[in-house]
Order: sequence, then C-alpha cells, then structure tokens
Amino acid sequence: MLELPSNAEAARLLERLGARAVDRAETLAARPDPRKHRELWRHLEGCYGDLMSRMGSGLPVDGYRGFPAMPVDANSVALHLYVWLYLAVLPETLRYHAERGIDRATSWETLSTLGPMMAEHRAVHGLGGIGRFGQWCPPLKFRGAEYRLGRLEYDRGRGELPDGTTGFLLHLHIPSGAPLSPEACDVSFDLAREFFGRHFPDEPVSYLVCHSWLLDPQITEYLPERSNIVRFLRRFELKPFISDDQEHADGDMLEYIFGRPSQSDPVTDGLLTELPQDTSLRRAYTAHLRSGRHWHARTGRIVF
Ligand SMILES: CC(C)(COP(=O)(O)OP(=O)(O)OC[C@H]1O[C@@H](n2cnc3c(N)ncnc32)[C@H](O)[C@@H]1OP(=O)(O)O)[C@@H](O)C(=O)NCCC(=O)NCCS
Repeated sequence: MLELPSNAEAARLLERLGARAVDRAETLAARPDPRKHRELWRHLEGCYGDLMSRMGSGLPVDGYRGFPAMPVDANSVALHLYVWLYLAVLPETLRYHAERGIDRATSWETLSTLGPMMAEHRAVHGLGGIGRFGQWCPPLKFRGAEYRLGRLEYDRGRGELPDGTTGFLLHLHIPSGAPLSPEACDVSFDLAREFFGRHFPDEPVSYLVCHSWLLDPQITEYLPERSNIVRFLRRFELKPFISDDQEHADGDMLEYIFGRPSQSDPVTDGLLTELPQDTSLRRAYTAHLRSGRHWHARTGRIVF
C-alpha cells in the first residue's frame, strides 16, 4: 500500500538526498492528495507498484522504458509527483541494499542524485520538481538496479554477449559534474569490480556497455586526443553504425552541452546562432551541424 512520508520526514529525507531549501519547500507544498489529485494519484500508485514489484531486478534483456515526462502544462503537484514517489519507495530501497550487504554510504551516494536533479530541472526548465525529465535512471536507482561508484554509475542488467549468448552486463552512465579524467574512470572501474563481485556474486559480469553521445567518434575530429572525452571513448569497442538520419542525438545534446531542454525537433539555424561558443565542444557541436552533419549516440563495450 502506497504511503507517503510525513512532511517532517520528507523534509529530512530530501535534505539527506541533497535537495536545496527551495526544492524541499516546493516539494512539501506540492504534496499529492488521493482525493484532490485523483488522476495523478493513480499514476503515482502505478509507478509505486512497478518499483516495488521490481525491487532488486536489473535491466531486462528486452528493454526498459522508465516513467514518462509530464506534459508541458503540468502543475506543481505533477512536477513533484516523482519526487514523492521516490520518497515513498526509499525505505524499501535501503532495506534491499542492506539485504545485499551494501553500506549506507554507497546507498546515499547513489540515491543522492535526486537533489542535484531537482537543481538541474530548475536550471533547464525554470521550474521546480523533476517532472519535465523522462524518468530513466532514478527508477533504476530506487529499485536497486543502479549504483554510483566514484565518478560513474552502473546498472545491473543482462544482454547479448559477443558470442551470441545472453549474460550479465553493466550499463555505464556518466553523470554530469567533475571532469571525466582517465584516473577517475580507472578508480571507478576498480570500485565496480570490487562492488559487484562482493554484493552480486550471483551475477558474474563480463562486459561494461555504454550508449552515449560521448562515444560518437566524430568528436575526435574536433577535440584533441588529450581531452577527457576522447580518451574515454577510445576505451570502447563500438558497435557498427547503421546510418539512420532519423536517429540522431542533436536534440538531446542541447541539454548535456548547453543546459537547454532536449528536443526531438530538428535544431534550426536560428537556434544555432543563439548557442554560446565558449568551449571547444560547444564550438564543435555548432560547426558540425552547420556543415549539414548530425551527432549520434553510439553503443560501445569494454571487457570488465
Ligand atoms: C562528461 C563530461 C564530464 C566531460 O567533461 P570534461 O572532462 O571537461 O571533458 P573534456 O576534457 O574532454 O573537455 C574538452 C572540451 O570540451 C568542453 N566540454 C566538455 N563537456 C562539456 C559540456 N558538457 N558542455 C560544454 N562544454 C563541455 C570542455 O570545457 C573543454 O573545452 P575547452 O577545450 O574549450 O577547454 C561533461 O561533458 C559532462 O558533464 N557532461 C554531462 C553528462 C553527460 O553528457 N553524460 C552522458 C549522458 S548520455
């Protein structure tokens, strides 16, 4: 049965999860009510049921969808609905982590991306909450599938191995923040080997996989070999690229590189002239699109 924490408990948890005062206050003011917000409450119950029934399960072989972003005209209760969802699930997540012998510091480090996500939502959309973001990583974190270990994040999952069989994999995520130095990546990979070997010995991992714009080798045409992004992408063996003009990452990269809302519409010349050009990557992004080409998210793997 879905039960929300009291306002006092929610405020305490939000602070622990790294939420700033303004985001804590707005969350409390946008507390959903089963009688007043019937439709939203039904969605909340559905998501809660989904997370609870999948507690501890990694990414399935046949895909994962997360929870959808709220519509553009969503009110404050809708924009904060997923925050309340995660607060409600949190005790169960901590219980699952404890059952796997995971220390509290790793639990909180993993879950504490919620606060920074609220700050990012405000920066990108000018609104409190997290509802304008599609919910991909947070549900995985709160169901015990994803862990933050040093600079990087890892999702437990299963997928096809190079020999055609199915096996355990870790899906790699690169949260924004500190530079992606090779040293920080090496430390994180070592932590991951130790962590998953110790807490999930029943899931022997053979590969790390990553799907990201950071793996687009076209970046090497613009950034030097010594840049962190190029050194990062050089670690991966890329899956062959099947040209498809429909599937490019131009719109998503607006968020990662310029802190603007991602979009599925084509990036117009008018928008390109507005984008700041103060880093080599920002200049690369713009020059590439101006030359009529596109950016692509690519998939790569590393032997674990
Ligand atoms: C991944 C990330 C930490 C790499 O940053 P980094 O370690 O500084 O990368 P590099 O050393 O390769 O940077 C090379 C140049 O690109 C710039 N750059 C790198 N990432 C940038 C970004 N997100 N926005 C704007 N400029 C960026 C750097 O400032 C540097 O510019 P300069 O040559 O003018 O000094 C950074 O891009 C980031 O935080 N991205 C957001 C998270 C993300 O995209 N995750 C993947 C989701 S699929």
